[in-house]
Order: sequence, then structure tokens, then C-alpha cells
Amino acid sequence: MTHPVRLDRHGSLGLIVINNPPVNALSAAVRQGIEARLQEVLGDDSLSAVLLVADGRTFPAGADITEFSKPPQAPLLPELCNMIEASPKPVVVALHGTVLGGGLELAMAAHYRVADENTLLGLPEVKLGILPGAGGTQRTPRLVGIKVALDMMLSGLPIKAADAERLGLIDEISPMTTLRGDAADLASEVGEVRRTRDARSQFLDGATCMADIAARRSVPDRPLASRKIIDCVEAALLVPFEVGVEMERDAFVECLASDASAGLRHAFFAERSAGKFPELLSAVPKQVDTVGVVGGGLMGSGIAIACLDAGFAVTVVEQGEDGVTGALNRIGALYEKGLAKGQMGEGALTDLNLTTEMEALGSADIIIECASEDEEIKQGIFAKLGQVAKPDAVLASNTSYLDLEPLTRASGRAADVVAMHFFAPAHRMALVEIGVPETANAQAMATTHALAKALGKTPVRSAAAPGLIGNQMLTAYRATADRLLLRGAQPAQVDAAMRSFGMPMGPYEAQDYSGLDIAWARRKAMKTPDLEALLLPDILCEAGQFGRKAGKGYYVYDSEGKRGAANPEMLTMLLGERRMRPMAKLALTPELIQDHLIAALINAGAGLLEAGTAARPSDIDVVMVHGFGFPRHKGGPMHQADMLSTFEVARRITEYAQTDPAHWRISPLLARLAAERMRFSQYQDAGMQK
Ligand code: 3HC
Repeated sequence: MTHPVRLDRHGSLGLIVINNPPVNALSAAVRQGIEARLQEVLGDDSLSAVLLVADGRTFPAGADITEFSKPPQAPLLPELCNMIEASPKPVVVALHGTVLGGGLELAMAAHYRVADENTLLGLPEVKLGILPGAGGTQRTPRLVGIKVALDMMLSGLPIKAADAERLGLIDEISPMTTLRGDAADLASEVGEVRRTRDARSQFLDGATCMADIAARRSVPDRPLASRKIIDCVEAALLVPFEVGVEMERDAFVECLASDASAGLRHAFFAERSAGKFPELLSAVPKQVDTVGVVGGGLMGSGIAIACLDAGFAVTVVEQGEDGVTGALNRIGALYEKGLAKGQMGEGALTDLNLTTEMEALGSADIIIECASEDEEIKQGIFAKLGQVAKPDAVLASNTSYLDLEPLTRASGRAADVVAMHFFAPAHRMALVEIGVPETANAQAMATTHALAKALGKTPVRSAAAPGLIGNQMLTAYRATADRLLLRGAQPAQVDAAMRSFGMPMGPYEAQDYSGLDIAWARRKAMKTPDLEALLLPDILCEAGQFGRKAGKGYYVYDSEGKRGAANPEMLTMLLGERRMRPMAKLALTPELIQDHLIAALINAGAGLLEAGTAARPSDIDVVMVHGFGFPRHKGGPMHQADMLSTFEVARRITEYAQTDPAHWRISPLLARLAAERMRFSQYQDAGMQK
């Protein structure tokens, strides 16, 4: 195997080249390689300067995150950075790609920095629940000042090369074609070393520096990593460099050990695994230029906006002139709003074609059906699509709950049909579930996956079971919350508990927000009604109390839709139902409510794995984080199961089942993992899922 770091000699210049695809992460082998090659240059009198560069798509995009859960190996990145900075021979770096985290820290330890104009530079560690741990908290403020350093580290967002040059983070910008040559010229010319650790000019106005720190510190409820960033940046100002680096190291170790960092790192890798569809191994996606959308309601409009903004031509088909005008108004309004917020590009509406003619979809490469959730209507649409769509077009339905089989049959071209389930608002939400009927061909899947990626979404694969992954999880979550209402909880109590867990809304606020009538219609259409289900939502709907849009639901709302107190009529209805269906009361606390609902999600997730609906536990976590706002720093329910232990979750479910056996049935998979004391991540790594 070739070593990931090599030394090339160019006259008196030692060129150290990192080559560790895909992102040149600073693994132990890379750190050892850089150290060894640097020592070689320093020991060679014929070499007077060092140029550090990387092959491939980027200069290192950071430390190797996969090593964070393993014992550390020398040299640690901060030690390597100190070695580079201490070099008596000038070290220049030539930067390109995404110079992130440890990659930027390495660059800041070098004496001079040249970057190609498209380079992005950033310190995204906070997004992993940690802080820069290789001197970044000490060197960044020395180069760009306290305020910019805090902006970069607390947001985790990268800056462009031009801004980096203006701010003093890099010395020169050079076109990619001449980057190495220009950086080599600089290395030959500079002669002297210039150590970032010695720079103090950014700290001359001490009072302003302290005010910048105080302003950041005054923001309440900052997570641990952000608090530590502020402390360490303050240390850069107040204490010698070595002491600041020591403080940074302690803080790094503490943050790395935190549950929040474990959750965020899990989410990072879960998102990347979710995108690995098996079909991508055998099929190449078709070229997509035009997307067709059937139905210009809220969902269809959001999907049209997402496609337009990603540069696709879009044809939206609506019924009648009123339908077309309504869709145009909706798309226009969403677009204006997005433009105003800087979330959308200029001019994309010119690629929009709104029509009543299904035949206009004949040129579309992929067609997404977003009609109302009615099987008969959708079957009619798929029958028509089967006739008008060009032979190789993908036919996707945005349905989650409906069975795809009748739609595939109606289309007469089952191999082209998939589900492509967006979450509302579709132009903003990152998740797209792709439901795969057994009949779908690999190329249709690969094309749907490629479209989701092109829209900037996170695609997750699901078997085409009604509800896919997300809505089956949601059903289990809501059903358990409803059980707690029967056992003495009030909706507001459940909502408050789940908000304090970190969900953006509790289950009842969320239902009021999206409208109780949607699930009501679905329940009424169900062939086998759930006899255990709470009747309260049906009773509310029968009284026209559909939630926020009706002014009443679980809560009351003012004329502007602002949520008020619990709806007293709803509370009376709930009391009536409790009298009809008496159950043992629970000693309710926020923790008990959270434990029940998280256990319900884990149990449902295990069921989805068993049924083969979800391919990996981590896919379920991605769906929960991106579709339902499950707190990212908690990783997702399946990650929570691993944090608690599958044994503990199984124990809790067994305990809950003692007082409510009709509701709680432990998933056999969860019971098995608990018996074997196995984590879901081990189950996933062992490839044991269906
Ligand atoms: N460590 C290990 N693997 C990494 C990695 C890292 N820092 N960054 C990316 N990868 C892996 C991904 O897991 C993926 O692997 P896979 O192909 O097996 O799934 C592969 O590299 C490609 O990554 P992406 O699919 O994300 O590729 P993109 O082109 O979409 O994005 C990127 C590239 C912008 C570099 C993105 O991967 C990214 O944001 N990476 C993380 C950057 C980061 O957080 N750096 C800081 C790390 S912590 C640190 O440096 C601590 C230090 O202060 C001590």
C-alpha cells in the first residue's frame, strides 16, 4: 500500500504531499507521515523550505472523525501543528477544496498560506459537539481577531477564500492551475519563518476584545462546546499560548466525551450511510432536465420550488384554470418569501410551465405525483401517466400512507414507479424518503436518488410499506402519547415534556399545527380501524375543531393563529373518554413521559428493521432528525437505545406492558438484542438486518 504522505524534492524545496482519499482526513497514518517527511526536510541541508499540499479534491477536511472513538495515536494533531510551527525552515501551505477543522488548524500552524480562489475555509467542529482541538482556538483569533474567530467557530460555517484573504487568514489567492507553482515561489522567497503563535496585533484593543467575548457569553443556553470555545478564545487573549493550548486540549477531551458529541457524530455518519442505496452499485442515474409535478397544492408547490431552485425545468399540471392560478399564486408567494430571505436564487421562475394538460408531461424525465391522498384519484393519474410519460421516465408518488401496488398496476409500467415522499414545506425540509416497490428497477431508483441529492436533500431508502419509515414511527409515537392521555396526562403536559427533550413541538401542538382533519380522513378510510385508539381526535374533528386553522383543537388559537391555553372543551371530552375507558393512573413526570415516547419510537424502529422496511437503524435516526426534528445532538431514537442499552429499553417496555398490555408489545428484534446485550450499531455493523 502506498503511504498517504510522500516527499518530492524540487531544487531546494521539499514538497510534502498528502494523499488520503476521499477528503485527506488527518488520520494517524497521515499525521505520522507528515511528521516523518518534515523531519526528513529538516535534516536535509540541501532543502531550505517546505511546501505542504494535498492531492485529490481537497486539502485535509479535518481530523479523521472515525478515530475519535479509538485510543489516540501519536503524534496528536496539536503536537504536529506545534512541530510545523516550530520548524526553523519556512513552511508554506497551498490550499484547495474544503479546508476544514484540523485541516485549517494545520494551515494556521504553517508560516504562510496560499489558496485557490474556490477554497472554503472553516472550523465546523461545533457541529460535532466539539471545539477546534489542534490550536484553532488560539491561532484563529491571533490571525483574524476575536470577533471573526468566534463567528467562525460558533457558527461552524466556512468562509470563502476572498474573505479569508481580506481577514488575514490566508496570505495570497492564486488560480488552481498555478496554485502549487505560486506557493512554491512564495516558499523560496520568504526566507524567514513567521509564527502565528507570536502574533498579538489583533489583541491591541483589549477592551473591544473583552466586549466581543462578553457579548457571546451573554447568550443563554449555549451548548457545552460553544461555551468552551468562548472560554478558550478568551484564554488566547489573556494567557500565554502554551497555557491556552492546554486549556483547549482539556476542553476538547471533555466535549468529545459528551453525549451531545456522540449524538452529533452519529448523525454525521448516519446521513452519509443513508445515501448509500444498493441500486447505485449496479445502475447509473438517467439524465434529468425536466421534472413534472402533478398537483400544485402546498406539497406540489414546494416540490416545484425545490426543483426550480436546483436548476431544473418544471412542468406543473393542475385541474382547471382555477387550479393553475392557485398553484401559480402559491409558487409565486413561496418564491417571493424565499427570495426575500436569501434562500432562493434569482430567475428560476422562468423555467416554470403551469398547465392543465397531462400531455405536457411527455417531455419530463421524472414525474412526481402530489394529488390528494385518495387511492382512486391517484390510480387515475398513474393510468394517464403510463400513457403520456416518455418511455424511460420515472413515475414517483409523493404518497407515504397509500399502498403503491395499485398505482404501479394502473401505470402499466411497474418498473418505473417509486414513492418519493417529501416533508412539508418541501422546499425547505431536508428529508426525502424513497419508497421502493419490489417491482421498481434499479435505474429508476438511482435516478430518484440522484434527483433528491441534486435538490440538496438527504434521501433515505424505505421498503414501500404504507407509512414508509417516517409515518410508521410517527404513528407509534402518537399512539403512545394518546395512551398517556388516558392514564392521566394532559396534552400540554406531554407537549412540554417533549419540548424539554428537544423536539421543536410536542405531539399535540404538531397535530394542531398541521390540522387534525388530515389524519381523521385517513382513519375513516382505514379498512381495519384501531379499536385501542384514543377517540378524542375523532370527537374534536366531529365538532369541527381541526386545530390551529379552526381556532380550536388541543389548544385554542387567536385570530392570528397564535396558540393560547388548552382548549377547555377538549379537556371535557378527554375526561369523558377517561371515564368510559378507565385505566390505571401513572405518576407522571416529564422524564416518565419522555421515557415512554422514546421507548415507543425505539420499539417501532426495531419493528421496521424486522419487517425490512428500514435497511439500517441509522436510517431511522436520519428520518427522525430530518423529518420530525428529533434533536440532532441526541442522534435519533436508535442511537438513544444504544446510549441507554437495548437491555434497559427492553426492561422499560416490559415494565410498561405490565400496566398496559394492550398497547405495549416488545418487538422480537429488540428483545433479542437486549438478551444478547447488543447495540443497534453493532447489529448494523454486523450487517444483520434484512
Ligand atoms: N473524517 C473522516 N471521514 C470523513 C471526514 C472526516 N473529517 N470528512 C468526510 N469524511 C468521509 C465521509 O464520511 C464520506 O465517507 P463515505 O464515502 O465512506 O461515506 C467521505 O468522506 C466523503 O464525505 P461526504 O460524502 O460528506 O462528501 P462531500 O463532498 O459531500 O463533503 C466535506 C465533503 C465538506 C468535507 C464533508 O464531508 C464534511 O463536512 N466533512 C466533515 C468536516 C469536519 O467536520 N471537519 C472537522 C473534523 S473534527 C476536527 O478536525 C477536530 C480537530 O479540531 C482536532
